[in-house]
Amino acid sequence: MQAWVIGNWKQNPATTKDVDALLDTLLTAVADDNTSNVCQLMVAPSCIHLASVSARLQNTSILTAAQDISALSDSSGAYTGDCSAQQVVDAGATWTILGHSERRQYHQESHETLLDKLSHAFTQGLGVVYCIGETQTQYDNKQTFSVLDDQLAVIKDLLIKSKEQAPELVQRLAERLIIAYEPVWAIGTGKVPTVMEVEATHQHIKETVASFDTTLPAMMVLYGGSVNTDNADSFAASPMIDGALVGGASLKADSFLAIAHAFEQAKNKETL
Ligand code: 13P
Repeated sequence: MQAWVIGNWKQNPATTKDVDALLDTLLTAVADDNTSNVCQLMVAPSCIHLASVSARLQNTSILTAAQDISALSDSSGAYTGDCSAQQVVDAGATWTILGHSERRQYHQESHETLLDKLSHAFTQGLGVVYCIGETQTQYDNKQTFSVLDDQLAVIKDLLIKSKEQAPELVQRLAERLIIAYEPVWAIGTGKVPTVMEVEATHQHIKETVASFDTTLPAMMVLYGGSVNTDNADSFAASPMIDGALVGGASLKADSFLAIAHAFEQAKNKETL
């Protein structure tokens, strides 16, 4: 199976000059190897850089994603500060991240909000990287699976709603949904769960989504949270981990591509 390695640039880099420099090194390095044959690369720049990054990546193997879309309309409207799914598509992106813990934490994104965002994304044909994960306290209290079940219920509700109101969305969800498991306590901290813990959690996620609709294909589940060049090999070696959502280490082309190489090599071995 092809691994996905996605760089979430968050609110970085601060200037267009630095975005261009990051893209220059990334494109030069990608041109020099063929990682992308086995590993699908994608980057998620900030909204302000989305169009320029998408334009530069247009004829390359690297995809572009938004980090978020408006819950209020999939197209246009009087929603100051928002950016819609249609605008994201028009800017050249083909995917969006949704439900990142930083959006849940700083923007109080609720179940209903995320249900609308997922629906808008699929309506406009965007693929979705849907992020879920527990906090340190929830992890310590052994609530991980129940927290994830609550967050995954958005998918279940979208399936129910779509079957009644927009059956074409069910097909889009089946084809273009990826789950990213990102324990909140592992994001930007250098702390990571063990590979065995991630495997058990990914298995739970795959089984839970499969239970929503038996016609859905096997769900792709990425791990995110302090993935770096030192630990990528160990995550990549697990058949339960289909790729990585990378924050800090995606801001340098060499570390981002080293992580992609780790997944490429491990997934190549799996198919032998
Ligand atoms: P870090 O890789 O910096 O921990 O961030 C992970 C993340 O939040 C990706 O979405």
